[in-house]
Amino acid sequence: MSDREVPREEAAGSRDRLLDMFEAAAGQYLSGEEISRRLGVSRTAVWKQIRRLKDAGYVFDAAPKLGYRLAASAAALDARRIEASLRTRRFGRSLTVLARTDSTQTEAENLARAGAPEGTLVVAEEQTSGRGRQGRVWHSPPGRGVWMSAVLRPEGPLTAVPQLTLLAAVAVCRAIRAETGVQAGIKWPNDLLADGRKLCGILLEAVVEDGRVRHCIMGIGIDANLEEADYPEELRQKVTSLRRESGKEVDRSALIAAVMNEFESLLSLHAEHGFQPIRLLWESLSVTLGREIVVRDARGERRGRAAGLGEQGELRLETEDGEVLPVYSGDIELYPGRASGDDPKER
Ligand code: BTN
Repeated sequence: MSDREVPREEAAGSRDRLLDMFEAAAGQYLSGEEISRRLGVSRTAVWKQIRRLKDAGYVFDAAPKLGYRLAASAAALDARRIEASLRTRRFGRSLTVLARTDSTQTEAENLARAGAPEGTLVVAEEQTSGRGRQGRVWHSPPGRGVWMSAVLRPEGPLTAVPQLTLLAAVAVCRAIRAETGVQAGIKWPNDLLADGRKLCGILLEAVVEDGRVRHCIMGIGIDANLEEADYPEELRQKVTSLRRESGKEVDRSALIAAVMNEFESLLSLHAEHGFQPIRLLWESLSVTLGREIVVRDARGERRGRAAGLGEQGELRLETEDGEVLPVYSGDIELYPGRASGDDPKER
């Protein structure tokens, strides 16, 4: 059987084992001969697999006699480059960069349970089981996105958690605008859109014990350098990426640091002055306010105008008969807008 005829699952399996091998080598060279012996495939197959990984955004150094190693470069996520751009005291200071994981949420959750401090950050080149809000799948292909999760240890009550979600959206939106020039806007509660298409999603998962927040995991997925071909067919009309919007390759390491910088400074603002300044920032970046919307939540479907944010970060929905209803969770659809069904693949 030629390399081209290798079944898809088998190819993915050997690619995963190849990445594991490079990760375990921790920056040391591996010869083509050694790789082919350990994987039980031909040298040509190894070379083709490496070429596929390069196409997916991984960067390799190749040296005669030594072989290949996974390289650090502007294109690949690089802990040193992220750290060099941080202006924080806590956020991103404890940093794990992974080539591949099932979900950075799970990685950060394990670290939080083991006592990791607030601001601990996990970033991955690829997620094999990335998850989104409402049990959806978050498509996280290798080498082109920003898939990251941070540990939060809020001291306030559980009711303040939605405010953190909105704060996170403001932080990411400001970082994106400053780093890339893309004029992203926030769709309630915390999706970022450009040209009406989604380019970032945020998932805040809170672990509660005895009515108190033990910790939260803030997951952020940004479609930084994804191309149309990186998405499954059914997502292509609904999504966009920073590269597509700006026409330029995004430096993901710099963007990660910028998000951490913004988040920490907004968290201080929140601690000192409460939710009001965050609410004003959120409203100024919103693409939801003033729009006709449909809300879908546990109570069913309601229509109205997005009138503003309430004290706890809830959306105030003004119905046709002038009643103002608070919306605490759920999905909204903007009119005129793109349909938002319950397809588990949908973002
Ligand atoms: C949404 O549904 O809009 C939220 C998507 C959140 C995706 C991010 S990617 C990093 C982190 N790890 C995950 O598995 N999910 C979040």
